[in-house]
Amino acid sequence: MPTFDTRDPTQAQFWTERFDQRFTPWDRGGVPQALQDFVAAAARPHVTLIPGCGTGYEVAFLSEAGWDVTAIDFSPAAVSAAQAALGPWASRVVEADFFTYVPPRPVDLIYERAFLCALPRAKWPDIARRWAELLPAGGLLAGFFYFDNAPKGPPFGGEPEQVRALLEPDFVQIDDRAVTDSIPVFAGKERWQVWRRR
Ligand SMILES: C[S@@+](CC[C@H](N)C(=O)[O-])C[C@H]1O[C@@H](n2cnc3c(N)ncnc32)[C@H](O)[C@@H]1O
Repeated sequence: MPTFDTRDPTQAQFWTERFDQRFTPWDRGGVPQALQDFVAAAARPHVTLIPGCGTGYEVAFLSEAGWDVTAIDFSPAAVSAAQAALGPWASRVVEADFFTYVPPRPVDLIYERAFLCALPRAKWPDIARRWAELLPAGGLLAGFFYFDNAPKGPPFGGEPEQVRALLEPDFVQIDDRAVTDSIPVFAGKERWQVWRRR
């Protein structure tokens, strides 16, 4: 187990240290099946934003499906890892802080994986507010939500009612299903959900 100087996951340096030391237990190394199913079933491509993308395997997958996708991460080491992994799609990854990033064109899908649970629960209202600000009415928030009574993290988990209370003011849930191909850190504790912006 490597040792780290930074303990605050709200700081980019926390994540940079872990990428630099190749300690990334959240990294799936590929594209989850539920996202593949979502893309296969989609009526049209979505202009997609991936906040806190990490290595960002989904960028290549969505790009190859013809989707307009931009991925952001505030850790330069994460951006480097993604750009190294993504080959021709590297330019679709931008170093930016989710809380201040303004997309150059409107997005109608935000993809969530291990970003909400990367930050302490105290930051969740800010994340939900920004999700809602970035999406137009009818826009979708789709991805993986980590459910656990885990106030200490990362990953920081929540109870289903907590996530529901966070999102329901601005979103309506339109899908919720078990995940069958989780990596160990999330196994049995994550669900694929899709929420539509009110
Ligand atoms: C647990 S990792 C998940 C990475 C990726 N989504 C995945 O599924 O592998 C969380 C990522 O969110 C990024 N992050 C945390 N806070 C951020 C912020 N305010 N703006 C942009 N990225 C952020 C971190 O740098 C880190 O790469």
